[in-house]
Amino acid sequence: MSSFWSPSVRELVPYTPGEQPAIAGLIKLNTNENPYLPSPRVIAAITAAAQDGLQLYPDPQAKAFRQAVASCHGLDMGQVFAGNGSDEVLAHAFFAFFRQDLPLLMPDISYSFYKVYCGLYDIAVTQVPLDAAMGIDVTQYQAACGGVVIANPNAPTGCGLPLAQIELLLQLQPNRVVLVDEAYVDFGGESALGLIQRYPNLLVVQTLSKSRSLAGLRVGFAAGQRHLIEALERVKDSFNSYPLDRLALTGAVAAYEDSAYFETTRAAVIASRELLRQQLQALGFEVLPSQTNFLMVRHPDHDAATLAAGLRVQRILVRHFRLPRIEQHLRISIGTPAQCAALVDACRSLLGA
Ligand SMILES: Cc1ncc(COP(=O)(O)O)c(C=O)c1O
Repeated sequence: MSSFWSPSVRELVPYTPGEQPAIAGLIKLNTNENPYLPSPRVIAAITAAAQDGLQLYPDPQAKAFRQAVASCHGLDMGQVFAGNGSDEVLAHAFFAFFRQDLPLLMPDISYSFYKVYCGLYDIAVTQVPLDAAMGIDVTQYQAACGGVVIANPNAPTGCGLPLAQIELLLQLQPNRVVLVDEAYVDFGGESALGLIQRYPNLLVVQTLSKSRSLAGLRVGFAAGQRHLIEALERVKDSFNSYPLDRLALTGAVAAYEDSAYFETTRAAVIASRELLRQQLQALGFEVLPSQTNFLMVRHPDHDAATLAAGLRVQRILVRHFRLPRIEQHLRISIGTPAQCAALVDACRSLLGA
C-alpha cells in the first residue's frame, strides 16, 4: 500500500493466476494449458513474421485473424472482436455491457476473474448457486439484472450445459447481454456461436489458449451481432489500439488454418481425460462430468489440500482452491499420457492404494 495509489486501487482484489514455477521436470497440471505444442505451422508462421516487419505496428483491426475466425464459424468479420487473450476480451465486455444499475448475475462457482473485473469496474454482482450436482440451473437467472455471465463448460467444475439451456437463458434475459465464455468448449461442449444470428443479446467468448495450445501467445475473441462488437471496439480503442502484436496475429491465423492438427490434439486430450477419469475413479475419487481439458475431483477419505501438497512433493502441480463448496476438490488439467500416468501413480502412492 502506498500513499501514491488512487483510492480505488487500494480496494482492488486482483486475480491470482495458477503457479508458473521455473522448475525443471515439473509436471504442470494446474493451469489448464494444452500439453501438446502448437501446430508446426504456427511456429513456421511466427518465425517468418519475426523476420519481417516488427518495426511496424500491427493491424489495429486484426482483420486477417477475425476473418479466419469468421470463416471457420460461418460469421461475418464484423461479428468478431479480437483481444489479447480472452481475459482482455472479457474485461472489455464487462466494461462495455455490465456497468448497469442492476447487478450482474453469475454462478457462485465460476471463473474467478469475473469477480475481479466487477471489482475493477464497480459492477455489483449477485451470485447464483450451482445446483446440488454442481451444474448451472438457468431457470435461476430470471431476476432483473444488469447482465449474465457464465462459462460453458463451467470452470472450475468442467460441467457443460446443452445448447437448449443456453437458448432458454437468452430468452429469459432478452434485454441484457448474456456472455457465454467458451474457453473450454472444444473439448466436448456445445458452442453457442450458431445462435448469434438469432439472439442480439448473445456474446460468445473463446480463446486460443486451450484447444489451440497457444496460452503463451495471448489471443482470444468475442463473437456476437455487430452492435455488440462495436461496443467492444469503442472500449478497446479507448485503451490500447494494438492489443495483438504481429507475431500473435500471424500465429493465430496459422492455428486456424491447421484444422487437422487442432482435431488431432483435441481428440488426444479428450481420450486422455476419459482414461484418467476411469483411473481416478478406480482409486476412489469422485469425478465431476467434464467437457473440458481438466477434471474436478474429490476423494471422500482424503483432504484435498493434503493431497495437493503430497503431489507437489512428487513434482506434480494441480490446482486447489480454498473456496467455499470446492475446498475439498482438486482441479487437474489433462496432460500427456505419460504425465497422466505419473499423476495416477503418485495418487496411488499417496492413498496407499
Ligand atoms: C473460463 C475461462 N475463461 C477465460 C480464461 C482466460 O483465458 P486466456 O486469457 O488465456 O484466453 C480462462 C483461463 O484459464 C478460463 O478458465
